[in-house]
Amino acid sequence: MKELLLPLLKKSQKKEGCISEKAVKEISKKTGIPVSRVYGAATFYAMLHTSKQGRYVIEICNSPSCYLNGSLDMIKYLEKKLNIKSGQTTEDNRFSMHIGSCIGCCNMAPAMRINSKVYSKLTEKKIDDILKKCK
Ligand code: FES
Repeated sequence: MKELLLPLLKKSQKKEGCISEKAVKEISKKTGIPVSRVYGAATFYAMLHTSKQGRYVIEICNSPSCYLNGSLDMIKYLEKKLNIKSGQTTEDNRFSMHIGSCIGCCNMAPAMRINSKVYSKLTEKKIDDILKKCK
């Protein structure tokens, strides 16, 4: 039943917008996996969320290649521009932002993903242009 854990967590998130406490308990019951381990998985993976997210979920990479190419400056810029910290959602529920790990485009660092789309070689100007298109 361990192999069902991630698909069930993803399905629950897709259906409800996040993985609720109720969903964690239901998945635990269905799979026989202890609640603590189900919750641990739900909070371990950057693509899973236990609280409601904005329409656009920004995951900005801070792994070594991005870090060495200025991801911290981009993170600070995003936090200032959106007026939120990592892990938070804007008041209008438009954006949620998370600092994450490698998204597989280290040669085009710094990079971020918004929902499933990847943006690379970030600059403040590029971030402005990208966010403007997120209506
Ligand atoms: S280190 Fe950032 S995308 Fe790989």
